[in-house]
Amino acid sequence: MAEVSFGLWMKERQAHFERVAEEGIPGEKEFPEGLHEAMRWSILGGGKRVRPLLCYAASALTDAEPASADAAALALECIHSYSLVHDDLPCMDNDMMRHGKASTHAKFGFAEAVLAGDALQAEAFEVLASGAVPAERVPGLVKLLAFAAGSRGMCGGQAVDLALTGTGGAGVGLPELRRLHSMKTGALIRAAVLMGAACGRAELDTPALREDLSAYGAAIGLAFQVIDDILDVTGDTATLGKTAGKDAEEEKATYVSLLGLEGARALAREARDEAEAALSRIEGLPQYAGKTLRLREIADFVVSRDR
Ligand code: IPE
Ligand code: IPE
Ligand code: MG
Ligand code: MG
Ligand code: MG
Repeated sequence: MAEVSFGLWMKERQAHFERVAEEGIPGEKEFPEGLHEAMRWSILGGGKRVRPLLCYAASALTDAEPASADAAALALECIHSYSLVHDDLPCMDNDMMRHGKASTHAKFGFAEAVLAGDALQAEAFEVLASGAVPAERVPGLVKLLAFAAGSRGMCGGQAVDLALTGTGGAGVGLPELRRLHSMKTGALIRAAVLMGAACGRAELDTPALREDLSAYGAAIGLAFQVIDDILDVTGDTATLGKTAGKDAEEEKATYVSLLGLEGARALAREARDEAEAALSRIEGLPQYAGKTLRLREIADFVVSRDR
């Protein structure tokens, strides 16, 4: 059977994920209504759903049960949404717009936004442990997600990002910036890939698959943040759904501030090529032959996107 186009596959998966999130997050009528409303505002009806897409695409490699992949996808997006809610706070990037609407603190106030982020983080682990995923696979998924979200991953990267805000990248070297990007954004994207595969058979324990998937995830995670930095300069607020030009305003250390637009674009392409090389190695293993198309297409999407 011919595969549907990437565009159609992505739309179908995004719509499917929207339903999973709609049903999986506590309802607005459940007490305390205000907090649940703020959580739903943050996670529903916006975003490209790149981490769920990666999770679904990787889960096909190991023939994971759809319910497990849904749980992992929702858990990942809960962490991502929480990271954006906190990232937009005045003590971090001070952004009033997200997904083309008011950011969570702009709509609900600071305290509610902090709590909505906190509760989304807890929700992620509750979703993983709530029975959709076979019990023997839960600890592995929890460990991957917790590592990616914590001080060695997203939170650590955010801390370094904030410490360098106001410098415009002065005195920052490329290896330092690569590490910062790999932590604040790359870690969760890599986890999306590994968690998708870990939802299925225990074959993820095959060192070759784990290593190559990890290399793929790390490479597109880096490319993803490099493109985010480029779009902050070249994109417009209406398309991005968030305020363009914020990085320069806040004097952030970004690939654009260090290398210029062309240098940053070249680096994103390099990272995409690295990701594709890792996929080719996976394709070379007989049990995964013909199963990496969507992951390849996502890598292209990540570097060619306009929002
Ligand atoms: C934005 O992430 C923040 C980064 C980690 C670069 P996304 O671009 O994935 O955000 P949405 O959810 O699609 O808006
Ligand atoms: C945020 O990076 C990464 C997170 C972990 C939230 P940015 O600060 O560049 O993300 P945007 O541009 O606000 O989406
Ligand atoms: Mg930030
Ligand atoms: Mg930001
Ligand atoms: Mg940005």
